[in-house]
Amino acid sequence: MTTSKMNAGTIQEAADYIRSKTDLTPEIGLILGSGLGILANLIEDAVSIPYEDIPHFPVSTVEGHEGELLIGTIKGRPVVMMKGRFHMYEGYGPEVTAFPVRVMKNLGVSGLLVTNAAGGVNTSFKPGDLMLLSDHLNLTGTSPLIGPNDSALGVRFPDMSEAYSRRLRAAAKEAASEHDFNFQEGVYAGLLGPTYETPAEIRMLRTLGADAVGMSTVSETIVARHAGIEVLGISCITNMAAGILDQPLSHDEVMETADMVKEKFLGLVLSIIPKM
Ligand code: HPA
Repeated sequence: MTTSKMNAGTIQEAADYIRSKTDLTPEIGLILGSGLGILANLIEDAVSIPYEDIPHFPVSTVEGHEGELLIGTIKGRPVVMMKGRFHMYEGYGPEVTAFPVRVMKNLGVSGLLVTNAAGGVNTSFKPGDLMLLSDHLNLTGTSPLIGPNDSALGVRFPDMSEAYSRRLRAAAKEAASEHDFNFQEGVYAGLLGPTYETPAEIRMLRTLGADAVGMSTVSETIVARHAGIEVLGISCITNMAAGILDQPLSHDEVMETADMVKEKFLGLVLSIIPKM
């Protein structure tokens, strides 16, 4: 196990490099999930910084994910957006997948919008639904906070009783009502991947209280909460989870559904950001 990447020094170096490229101080961070990179088009006067240029930043490897940090404004609010994120199935430790959240905090971010593609475990969901995360199950078997705690970054034993901000969920629902849209709301189970789940695993997850399942987000949220950042999570339900329908799952289906809902998603995010 390595915690070498995530320390005050490497975070500072990454943040200093980003600051050298922009005069903006971002207040809101956005992390885009599979197929949702189109949200990057929302940013005005964006400065783009390829991940490979940022000291200590990992580089995303999966198809359909891009690797750049964008800094600009959305509806006048200064934002920093990750176009493409890091997953544990790529071989990164949880502290590496969450490193950019540390950097965002250093840059001045106090609110984080995390989006992901997820399988619907709740049988009342349908592909194309958008789900506000009310909570999560960290089923990765690990945590980005393992190792010595730097108290300058957060407390040793962070409270997770409101991992996903009630205030921000209310703001998102208010924004949705302006679009005559209703979010689903539920619990996201975060697994390692990269296989999709077996039908037995999906039955287990449903018994455990999961409404959706995916391979990201939980380590980012854990680090955000440790850092005192308020989190809003939105899952795009791209497919019904394994065993619900009599058909195999594929990354193509995930990308197709994400592509179908992108306009709706875009409109909602535009309305949510000013309320964050
Ligand atoms: N399972 C896990 N991750 C996912 C899924 C799924 O069904 N769909 C999109 N990401």
